[in-house]
Amino acid sequence: MGLVAQARALLSFQGDLGLHGVDVPFEILTRRAPAEPPRPATDVVDMGPPTAGNEAMVQPRGSLGGIREEIGDCRRCKLSDRRTNIVFGAGYHKARLMFVGEGPGQDEDLQGEPFVGAAGKLLDKMIRAMTLERSEVYIANIVKCRPPRNRDPEPDEVAACEPFLKQQIAVVQPEVIVALGRCAAQTLLRDQTAISRLRGKWREYEGRALMPTFHPAYLLRNASEKKWVWHDLQEVMRRLGLNLPKST
Ligand code: URA
Repeated sequence: MGLVAQARALLSFQGDLGLHGVDVPFEILTRRAPAEPPRPATDVVDMGPPTAGNEAMVQPRGSLGGIREEIGDCRRCKLSDRRTNIVFGAGYHKARLMFVGEGPGQDEDLQGEPFVGAAGKLLDKMIRAMTLERSEVYIANIVKCRPPRNRDPEPDEVAACEPFLKQQIAVVQPEVIVALGRCAAQTLLRDQTAISRLRGKWREYEGRALMPTFHPAYLLRNASEKKWVWHDLQEVMRRLGLNLPKST
């Protein structure tokens, strides 16, 4: 992202996060661009289930496509009964940052993509406030099929699906995982502590740094909590060496 676009994104999304007045744009405009070269934004792998047209395409073992192929037309748990699409995950296959949500909602179930509904729009804003693009991160969920009426995934459903999430993490190798919301944080951490106490503190999952924070859907209902998420995301930015607003 260019510096002017970066400044605009910060202004816009910090405003959305309820952070008007933070000393950002001038600092960003006068700061040098990040040293790291831009990464490809196109390597999004969601092959969809094998079909008559593509079943002959053998995916390499240990690739996201290979994991998707292994999942196939999954019937490993009861969530498969009512799903429209398996929501595998999306984003850059070598992302330094991975977001893990709870499970697909209605929009995601219909489109087969994670975080495309109202909560997804806010997640996009959170990502851009971090000076990143959605195509630079990887986004997945605890379960890949929509739980009925958006209830929490049940233990047998998590048990059936989590091995694939672990495989995705092993392939992407993110430096940081952000667990979005109570369900993702408590499930990944095997810790029933309230999300209000888990959030903002570094933990580990599969040997990788994990930051729990509030779910964007929760923020849609509780806008005053956005400041805590921004705090947590800045912790993540620090860890990734991303440029931070001057005043933080
Ligand atoms: N909420 C989630 O946890 N995941 C999605 O993909 C969409 C909404």
